[in-house]
Amino acid sequence: MGVLVQTRAACEEEHFEIAALHEVQRAAAEIEGLIENGPIVPTVTPEEIRGYLRSRYDFATPVPLDAVMGDVQQMLRKWQVHVTHPRYFGLFNPSVTVASVVADLLAAMYNPQLATWRTSPAANEIERHTLAWLAGKFGLPDETVSNFTSGGQESNLSAVVVALAHAFPELGECGLHGLAKSPVIYVTGGAHHGFVKIARMTGLGRAALRTVSMGEDLKMELADLAKKVAEDRNSGLAPLMVIATAGSTAAGVIDPLPDLARFCREENLWFHVDAAWGGAAVISPGLRGHLAGISEADSITCDAHKWFSVPMGAGMFFCRHPNAVLSAFESEVAFMPGKTSSVLDPYTSTTQWSRRFIGLKLFLALAERGEAGYAQLIEQQTRMGDVLRRSLERSGWRIVNRTPLPLVCFTRNGLVASKFLSELYKRQIAWMSEVQLGSGEPVLRACVTSIRTTETDIEWVVREMSRIPGGES
Ligand SMILES: Cc1ncc(COP(=O)(O)O)c(C=O)c1O
Repeated sequence: MGVLVQTRAACEEEHFEIAALHEVQRAAAEIEGLIENGPIVPTVTPEEIRGYLRSRYDFATPVPLDAVMGDVQQMLRKWQVHVTHPRYFGLFNPSVTVASVVADLLAAMYNPQLATWRTSPAANEIERHTLAWLAGKFGLPDETVSNFTSGGQESNLSAVVVALAHAFPELGECGLHGLAKSPVIYVTGGAHHGFVKIARMTGLGRAALRTVSMGEDLKMELADLAKKVAEDRNSGLAPLMVIATAGSTAAGVIDPLPDLARFCREENLWFHVDAAWGGAAVISPGLRGHLAGISEADSITCDAHKWFSVPMGAGMFFCRHPNAVLSAFESEVAFMPGKTSSVLDPYTSTTQWSRRFIGLKLFLALAERGEAGYAQLIEQQTRMGDVLRRSLERSGWRIVNRTPLPLVCFTRNGLVASKFLSELYKRQIAWMSEVQLGSGEPVLRACVTSIRTTETDIEWVVREMSRIPGGES
């Protein structure tokens, strides 16, 4: 009898849980409309949210799943900058495709452990297949090792760790103290700020970052790079790697990849291309020419959770030197399931140990739309970037960056960017940010990141912006 009661209780519980999945389906069907017609920017204080959570969730009394789900959804709708809103012109956080959302759910449901190939052969091979396809698009050789990461920061960290292992095979044993010369990494002020954190995390220290000048076009200046590398060699330092950015965070600028590739080859420097956002342009026939030279990279960062429009976190790291990857991350432990001689286990070739099935999001979305369908998404956003540029210029704004990618930095005389933005948010017109390019005053930065942004959205935003004090022509 006891067993029967227990079984029934278990069935009921399962029934409720399945009902919760139906609720997710219902919410997915309406979320686009709800977000599109709702506010973009929340106004809330930490105290308000903390008080709300304290009053409802002491975790002493269980709360039914459907009630918590409903509550969490209303919190997310109210208290979030809606990055999937068509008028979110933000920091590379995309609107997501339905296929990639479904993939995230499937990954959670099956919960495969990708640390080793043997535990999750299907999931590992799906990731490998997807990454090999993209590595081919970048023009990397067949032996390239690639893996999914939590995001661009982990990929860039991997690049520095692997470049160090490549240049200093003794490093794994002796550590940085044991090196005869101190490594130097070359970046520009346009490189992602995460490299400062990476310099600290790796023990290299901030002093190991050498800032190379940018020209007026905000691209790395080859002459200054050459000068700084020569100076460092003369001072007894060990120039290690050059970080080129393909689609800089602030201005969407692509560094001169072919020149930098050639220079790195001549100087025996590691050439890393941080294409966290801009890398997706490689699948667009109209844009891929702007990435010429990327095929020469020793390593590449490219995020699926940026311009490939899949949910966070999904970064990718590509490296053409398998031995360097292995010497950076190799691990031998008895408790991990048996090795498969012909494949690399992810825990021995990446920073992570336990590993989520990150790559399914990109695989499913690509399989569903096909390469041409995906290229269309990217080109549509690029067109919207052009529409935005033209519309701003027509309304008297001055465009201050140059890039073929859909990221527009702009200003006008007397603009105080922070004041302008707070009014923009208050009126729920759009979300965009401010950015400082070089030594000038902060300007406005708007990046088309949504597959849903239309020409009508853009024209409306630009019109409404002229009604804000400081925004009128
Ligand atoms: C050029 C570039 N590199 C690296 C990163 C860091 O990526 P993530 O936020 O995915 O860690 C970003 C983030 O915007 C970026 O723009």
